[in-house]
Amino acid sequence: MSSLRTDAVGQDAAAVDAAQLRRAFGMFATGVTIITAAHPGDGLLGITVNSFHSVSLEPPLVLFSLARTSFTLRPFLETPGFVVNVLREDQRALSHRFARTGDDKWIGVSHRPSELGAPILEGTVASFECTHHAQYDGGDHMIILGRVLRFETDPEGAPLLYFHSRYRRLAEEDER
Ligand SMILES: Cc1cc2nc3c(=O)[nH]c(=O)nc-3n(C[C@H](O)[C@H](O)[C@H](O)COP(=O)(O)O)c2cc1C
Repeated sequence: MSSLRTDAVGQDAAAVDAAQLRRAFGMFATGVTIITAAHPGDGLLGITVNSFHSVSLEPPLVLFSLARTSFTLRPFLETPGFVVNVLREDQRALSHRFARTGDDKWIGVSHRPSELGAPILEGTVASFECTHHAQYDGGDHMIILGRVLRFETDPEGAPLLYFHSRYRRLAEEDER
């Protein structure tokens, strides 16, 4: 097995190579979500996010982080709540579309409103409707905690995965 070692804590913190660190973070395989919300003035919001995590069952909490440079961040924090849409393996084009900045993200995208008015995307493996619970400083990101109000799942659906900057699919199911 080959391995590369880089010291992230040193005398010169600025020397930590951000690109190298990003690649190392990318060794953690994730699913892919699109976080959606509806803003009274700015309209529908949506952004591709793989920093989603489940946090707590009692109360039901989830989190994700949004870059401070994201155009979505300011209007997003002004909405009453949001939906975490967990993408299915055939939804990589949707992931790509919502990973771009622009006003045209929603053209031709099938969705219906949640009770809070945030768009629930069609064809996902799961969706979680949340209210804003808390926000924390996360360096160049904001950590956003949501309280789950309602959720839907498709237990038969296979998820879209992301690893090492590439989309992947689940391989054979492992034996228990
Ligand atoms: C697979 C994938 C995962 C991503 N995860 C995040 C994330 O967790 N947080 C984040 O702020 N941006 C993430 N991004 C980048 C945003 O989707 C991208 O910067 C988007 O263009 C921001 O749009 P906006 O500036 O209109 O808000 C991810 C992109 C991809 C392709």
